[in-house]
Amino acid sequence: MLIRYKNQEKIEMGLLSFMPVEKDVKMLQQTMKNYEEDPNWHLLLWKEDDDIVGAIGLRLEDDISAVIQHISVNPSYRNTGIGKNMIAEVKRQYGKKYDVCADELVQEFFDKCSQQDENEEE
Ligand SMILES: CC(C)(COP(=O)(O)OP(=O)(O)OC[C@H]1O[C@@H](n2cnc3c(N)ncnc32)[C@H](O)[C@@H]1OP(=O)(O)O)[C@@H](O)C(=O)NCCC(=O)NCCS
Repeated sequence: MLIRYKNQEKIEMGLLSFMPVEKDVKMLQQTMKNYEEDPNWHLLLWKEDDDIVGAIGLRLEDDISAVIQHISVNPSYRNTGIGKNMIAEVKRQYGKKYDVCADELVQEFFDKCSQQDENEEE
């Protein structure tokens, strides 16, 4: 289940810190601030049973694109399809209104997920 939560900053920061570009604390704090204050930056969390185990962040550009710029899964839950499910859910939630794509940090994983979707549809 992918939801925008309120008051989960610590969990969000912990998950985002797994992104290699967010290792610097000041940068991570600025990223969090953007997600809190910029209406075009959306951070969604993945809940598995009662635990929040994944985060996916995107920015809306010019009312046209939804660019996925962060994705992270708690290491204990990796390789179970959560990352792929989060991308599929963002496409489902945003795809009718926006062109869903990924920035360069997430591109490789995004392409892999899209490829798998296409193969499953065949
Ligand atoms: C990238 C990440 C979100 C994937 O989450 P996940 O829930 O483990 O992903 P899934 O279970 O849906 O998919 C796992 C598959 O993706 C592959 N994969 C993992 N990271 C990848 C990457 N950066 N690029 C391409 N493929 C990747 C795995 O090798 C695995 O492949 P397989 O199915 O062929 O064995 C997770 O590894 C993570 O949090 N990484 C640290 C944060 C990060 O670096 N994010 C930016 C890079 S996208």
